[in-house]
Amino acid sequence: MSGRPTILSVDNLTVRFDASPPFLRRVLTGARRRTVHAVEEVDFAVTEGSTFALVGESGCGKSTVARTIAGIQAPTAGGVSFMGVDIAAFRTRHAAMPYRRNLQMIFQDPYASLNPRWRVGRIVAEPMVTHGLAAPGPALRGKVSELLETVGLSTDDARKFPHQFSGGQRQRISIARALASNPAFIICDEPTSALDVSVQAQILNLMKRLQKELGLTYLLISHNLAVVAHMAQSLGVMYLGRLVERGDADQILTRPRHPYTRLLLDTVPDPHAPDRGRTRLQGEVPSPLSPPAGCAFHPRCPFAEERCTRELPSPVKVGGAWVACHAVQEDRLPHHLPGRSQGEIVSGGAT
Ligand SMILES: Nc1ncnc2c1ncn2[C@@H]1O[C@H](COP(=O)(O)OP(=O)(O)O)[C@@H](O)[C@H]1O
Ligand code: SF4
Ligand SMILES: [Mg+2]
Repeated sequence: MSGRPTILSVDNLTVRFDASPPFLRRVLTGARRRTVHAVEEVDFAVTEGSTFALVGESGCGKSTVARTIAGIQAPTAGGVSFMGVDIAAFRTRHAAMPYRRNLQMIFQDPYASLNPRWRVGRIVAEPMVTHGLAAPGPALRGKVSELLETVGLSTDDARKFPHQFSGGQRQRISIARALASNPAFIICDEPTSALDVSVQAQILNLMKRLQKELGLTYLLISHNLAVVAHMAQSLGVMYLGRLVERGDADQILTRPRHPYTRLLLDTVPDPHAPDRGRTRLQGEVPSPLSPPAGCAFHPRCPFAEERCTRELPSPVKVGGAWVACHAVQEDRLPHHLPGRSQGEIVSGGAT
């Protein structure tokens, strides 16, 4: 991917939420302030025309990163720069328009994000009207038909309501709407997690075709490594708000370094070795209200030592990846690597 320009850069991004009990209750009961450490010092860059995937278990902060990039959530510290402009610059609605036009989002549950009272034609037309790309009339209707056909639906579908479609078709409608403003970048937050495996593959293949034809860049968020292996050139593995490993997707999937990445990969069933891939990650993800000291993965890590419980590991470059782990730095991990090729992970299916 080198040589292509960077379209998005996320620098030292931190997002915390105040989850304190109300003031009066704190005064009366002596309860303390509580902070959710949703995202801590996350750094990555996405090159134009590529797919960068964020993976990790539920609650690790993926959607919060997405919402911050989309400008829905303000960062606590750090920043995001998109097409060379800092998102903090988009304070007014007017200034935000070119940003919004170029950056669209699709979500896990298209039903929740499609207005149930609107016909599909209006849903798909709305971004074009909002961004002044087409005035209502025959040209707009023509553009809607074109978009519906691009995503594998028909012109007649414009007259129907979202509830008249299946889950997969509804995701096609969201994609058509996302494409309507002719964006450069689409954030796809668990776009196929609610779909059956066969439908999942159709939607992912549609996304791949559109990427190629339109030169789109994707930030793909998924907890499913099979999806990531199918789609991404670069990836970041998140654990409790932090990126623990990031870099070239093929390298990380074939030669995972971080113990957490290794465990995640071990949970993917392996069709060639049915005994393998049955590992379940042991233990619960700790609460982001009080992340463990040192390396947050230490309570679950088979390689944890005393240093891990008190010192936060800084990322170091190993091969094509950045890895934040003391054991990797100290070169004391076993060289048995459970990685597999991207193709094997794709055919192995979901976690
Ligand atoms: N608006 C909010 N207020 C308080 N806590 C939040 C808010 N949004 C997210 N969180 C918390 O931040 C953490 C990360 O959430 P999220 O980004 O949705 O994770 P993921 O998408 O990886 O499942 C979770 O513990 C979640 O409960
Ligand atoms: S820093 Fe220590 S606890 Fe954290 S992943 Fe590495 S070995 Fe495990
Ligand atoms: Mg999420």
